[in-house]
Amino acid sequence: MVLLRESILLPFVFLTCSVASLPPTATSTTTDYLTLMLFKSLVKGDPMGALASWGNLSIPMCQWRGVACGSRGHRRGHVVALDLTGLNLLGTISPALANITYLRRLNLPQNRFYGILPPELGNIHDLETLDLSYNSIEGQIPPSLSNCSRFVEILLDSNKLQGEIPSEFSSLPNLQLLSLRNNRLTGRIPSSIGRLVNLKSLLLTFNNITGEIPAEIGSLENLSTLDLGSNQFFGTIPPSLGNLSHLTALIFSNNNLEQSIPPLQGLLSLSILDLGQNNLKGNIPAWIANLSSLVTLILEKNSLEGNILESLGNLEMLTTLALKQNNLQGHVPHSITNLYSLKNLYIGFNELEEIGANRLTGELPDSVGNLSTNMKYFITNHNSITGGIPEGIGNLVNLQFVEMNNNLFEGPIPDSFGRLKKLNQLYLSGNKFSGSIPSSIERTKSNPETSLTSEQHIRVSYAELVSATNGFASENLIGAGSFGSVYKGSMTSNGQQQEVAVKVLNLTQRGASHSFVAELCSSIDFHRDNFKALVYEFLPNRNLDHWLHQRPIEDGERKALDLSVRIRIAIDVASALEYLHQSKPLPIVHCDLKPSNVLLDRNMVAHVGDFGLARFLHQDADKSSGWASMRGTIGYVAPEYGLGNEVSMQGDVYSYGILLLEVFTGKRPTDNEFGEGLGLRKYVEIALPGRVTSVVDRHLVQETEDGEGIADMKISCITSILRIGVQCSEEAPADHMQISDALKELQGIRDKLQNIKHLCIEGE
Ligand SMILES: *[C@@H]1O[C@H](CO)[C@@H](O)[C@H](O)[C@H]1NC(C)=O
Ligand SMILES: *[C@@H]1O[C@H](CO)[C@@H](O)[C@H](O)[C@H]1NC(C)=O
Ligand SMILES: *[C@@H]1O[C@H](CO)[C@@H](O)[C@H](O)[C@H]1NC(C)=O
Ligand SMILES: *[C@@H]1O[C@H](CO)[C@@H](O)[C@H](O)[C@H]1NC(C)=O
Ligand SMILES: *[C@@H]1O[C@H](CO)[C@@H](O)[C@H](O)[C@H]1NC(C)=O
Ligand SMILES: *[C@@H]1O[C@H](CO)[C@@H](O)[C@H](O)[C@H]1NC(C)=O
Ligand SMILES: *[C@@H]1O[C@H](CO)[C@@H](O)[C@H](O)[C@H]1NC(C)=O
Ligand SMILES: *[C@@H]1O[C@H](CO)[C@@H](O)[C@H](O)[C@H]1NC(C)=O
Ligand SMILES: *[C@@H]1O[C@H](CO)[C@@H](O)[C@H](O)[C@H]1NC(C)=O
Repeated sequence: MVLLRESILLPFVFLTCSVASLPPTATSTTTDYLTLMLFKSLVKGDPMGALASWGNLSIPMCQWRGVACGSRGHRRGHVVALDLTGLNLLGTISPALANITYLRRLNLPQNRFYGILPPELGNIHDLETLDLSYNSIEGQIPPSLSNCSRFVEILLDSNKLQGEIPSEFSSLPNLQLLSLRNNRLTGRIPSSIGRLVNLKSLLLTFNNITGEIPAEIGSLENLSTLDLGSNQFFGTIPPSLGNLSHLTALIFSNNNLEQSIPPLQGLLSLSILDLGQNNLKGNIPAWIANLSSLVTLILEKNSLEGNILESLGNLEMLTTLALKQNNLQGHVPHSITNLYSLKNLYIGFNELEEIGANRLTGELPDSVGNLSTNMKYFITNHNSITGGIPEGIGNLVNLQFVEMNNNLFEGPIPDSFGRLKKLNQLYLSGNKFSGSIPSSIERTKSNPETSLTSEQHIRVSYAELVSATNGFASENLIGAGSFGSVYKGSMTSNGQQQEVAVKVLNLTQRGASHSFVAELCSSIDFHRDNFKALVYEFLPNRNLDHWLHQRPIEDGERKALDLSVRIRIAIDVASALEYLHQSKPLPIVHCDLKPSNVLLDRNMVAHVGDFGLARFLHQDADKSSGWASMRGTIGYVAPEYGLGNEVSMQGDVYSYGILLLEVFTGKRPTDNEFGEGLGLRKYVEIALPGRVTSVVDRHLVQETEDGEGIADMKISCITSILRIGVQCSEEAPADHMQISDALKELQGIRDKLQNIKHLCIEGE
């Protein structure tokens, strides 16, 4: 064999996989050397000097950064691995790499490689691992890669790959991991996938792959992770998947799957089952309660009917139960309090389109307090749950988000809520509570920054509002839109006459934005059918400018807003602008959008300080400006509009764009560091897409608890957001984005991030 190989010396033959074994001559290591230099010559950007050692004559090739050589046999002295992960390299991938005959591992993830994936790589016979995730590679996945028959892992996540998954891949007998998440792939999964008998993970989430899920996947007996979320799959879930006894994660969320959930009781290893956001019908199958390893069960946003099974209480390891937005009815099973590991319970919005039909009813069990003290989310809103809220809920001391609004709860609001020191969000409106808000709730935040809140927090009754707005008189109506109506009014608070804006929500509008409501403060005295909700601005968390640039101190540390809060704020502000712009009979233009006008309530929900309202309710505010400020001082006005010129909706969108850049870079548009003539916008624009990490607020980049992959997904989300900011603030008004488009894109980005978080729950 060796002799035969020695006799084949034609230089061109080592271009193909089939005749790949190259004689171990000096010439061939020279080939490796020259090939690496060719590779380097296409790297146009190397900010960390990662390739400085490459080509330095005093450093042997095998000691260059990222290069590993074989040590035995004919691989001795030959490059067998190239590992240049996360070095911010900018360039294209040289097809010449195909000449590194013994290459087994080619790892270039988390760089800025662009251009195509060279089909020549299919000639590297020994290649076992190819990882080019988190780059900007375009074009199709070359079918020629299927010639590398030793492939074990192919990772091409988060690129811009298009076209279909090559059906030729089914001839890769050793393939264990195929990860193509977050690309632009289309077409179907080839049914020949059933031949990849060693496949352990098939990860295709966030693409546009369509067709039915091939039943053949059910024959991949070693499959452990199947993630097909956020694609365009339709049809039914194949029953054959029930054969996958090693499967630990089955993620089909956000597709168009139909009909009922088939019997999959064979999935005995399953720990994540996510079928959320499809069109699934029928009941929650009883066998789910037998999947004793289940940690995450997400069936939300389907059309599932029937009851929540009592037997779900058997799932002792469950940490997330998400059944919201279905058509479930009947009682909330008391057995849920047996879920000792539960952290996140989402059973809200179980109703058909006709409000009131099919909702969860009954009382919450007294034993709610027996749930895990790790409970963080307790969301049961928009159902018909009756009775009192058990005092025991105060045992769940780590609760952060409690939404019980729009039910039929009655009796007093338990004093024990005051024990929930970590509460971020407490929604109780739209119920039939009696009595007043226990003062213990107002004391839950010990943050000195917010200690004045109880003084600022004026509680008002319906009667007072009627009086303040002169019976919601039409002459006081200053705006109306899809969320409801805004009235101006005048009322006495702390002995002073104050002007306020009163926003009456139209609750028949599902999802009426929280942007304008702090529900806790509004609901108590009203029955849900009486007065839909009135708005009372409650703004202890000051404004966005304060959070971005001064940063409040809590527990001795300066606090920074995390990514998800910033995205939520960006969405709240965009919804508010959309609302103003769509208001009837005349659109309202804000004219003065800037972070100091974005006020944050105790739940960190953003309220656009429209009409000068902000100035009344915040202690630091300029009390002199009143309604006159509806005209607004000039915030970030696009150059063409200029001071004193007509400001328009596009001016708002421009300001919004700049605000977005400010929120995610943490830099003021007026910072000196951009240099002469180079504003924040330009500063960001030239950093897109590759150099984003260098302009992003470092507090966002430092959120390092996540795995590397997640951190990168986050950067890619931030990149998309900055791009929206740049587009909104385009200087030629015609190129501006519409605020509604910006809003939609931001919501998409938020959903994407949320889906990513679901995937991480397992690792918690
Ligand atoms: C080459 O490497 C040597 C040893 O690390 C170093 O001293 C020298 O400065 C390098 N030469 C260049 C041109 O970078
Ligand atoms: C591989 O090396 C040969 C000989 O040096 C060269 O002709 C060829 O272009 C190289 N292949 C690629 C894909 O660059
Ligand atoms: C695999 O390699 C053979 C021999 O070089 C070639 O004929 C074939 O087209 C390649 N397959 C693909 C899918 O590129
Ligand atoms: C998927 O297709 C839709 C409609 O064709 C398009 O709007 C969307 O951008 C595509 N998504 C991806 C990730 O390619
Ligand atoms: C599944 O994996 C086991 C152990 O790695 C292996 O022995 C078996 O052959 C695999 N199954 C198939 C169908 O290849
Ligand atoms: C797989 O599932 C299908 C449908 O449930 C069944 O008919 C088939 O016998 C199963 N195959 C194996 C190998 O267990
Ligand atoms: C659940 O498991 C038990 C015990 O193995 C079995 O008797 C029962 O039939 C299973 N239930 C369902 C709905 O599969
Ligand atoms: C569960 O809660 C009930 C009512 O609060 C209580 O009586 C019971 O002792 C609790 N059970 C356990 C196992 O903690
Ligand atoms: C509230 O919203 C519903 C649904 O969009 C609409 O039909 C209704 O006219 C609105 N009511 C008011 C008072 O605006």
